[in-house]
Amino acid sequence: MSTTRQAVRERYARAARQMAVAGNAGCCGDGAGCDCGSYSEQDLQLIGLSESVSLGCGNPTLLAALEPGEKVLDLGSGGGLDVLLSARRVGPTGHAFGVDMTDEMLELAEANRARAGVRNATFMKGTIESVPLPSASVDVVISNCVINLAEDKGAVIHEAFRVLRSGGRLAVADMVELEPLAPELKRAPDAWAGCVAGAIPVEQYRGLLLAAGFAEPEIEVHTVTEVPEGGRIGSAYIRARKSSV
Ligand SMILES: C[S@@+](CC[C@H](N)C(=O)[O-])C[C@H]1O[C@@H](n2cnc3c(N)ncnc32)[C@H](O)[C@@H]1O
Repeated sequence: MSTTRQAVRERYARAARQMAVAGNAGCCGDGAGCDCGSYSEQDLQLIGLSESVSLGCGNPTLLAALEPGEKVLDLGSGGGLDVLLSARRVGPTGHAFGVDMTDEMLELAEANRARAGVRNATFMKGTIESVPLPSASVDVVISNCVINLAEDKGAVIHEAFRVLRSGGRLAVADMVELEPLAPELKRAPDAWAGCVAGAIPVEQYRGLLLAAGFAEPEIEVHTVTEVPEGGRIGSAYIRARKSSV
């Protein structure tokens, strides 16, 4: 396992243990003004949580405009908030799946699922570079502040494309690089695990989406953060579609 991946796994194992005893552990890693608190009281009530367990940088379940009966996959599902909300939104004829590589996060998500009494949600152990679902098996892929953590973002975006049915859609909240970060920071595993160093420029993100086969990629930056060591990052909403064949 690479040093970066190890740092990511350790950080989120720690965050899961902290959330299991004390609720939220702060948003998108370092909580760098990334707008993680975009869940309404109503959202939380829907899944029986008194406070957000999001470590994300937005609310992809709103972005995805989910419909009853749809199948949804969340890449890097963490404590399970977006999966559980998606499950409620798609209703009993739909299903929400979450994939995450960190055992502690999977345990937390499963505990949250059981407490919320949500039946149409499944949390799976796996990586977002190699998703444990068949091709063309879901209508929507969502993700919240996770793709920036992957060292091979091209592989992740190819996997998202593979598991989507034709006509399916991608709706992601993620960090992007707006002004180059200091090279030492880009190499620091902690800064990577904190959702800072792994961010890539908007045009590079768009290029990866197009290379994977996605149509009409839209990337909208909604929150900008100055990085003390130099450079700027932003929280962005990213949408794209797998064209119908
Ligand atoms: C910043 S947290 C976000 C969690 C969740 N999406 C949320 O909004 O609260 C990142 C999550 O992604 C998981 N993760 C990071 N890289 C991953 C990878 N390559 N494959 C699977 N899971 C990954 C971590 O274990 C962690 O639970």
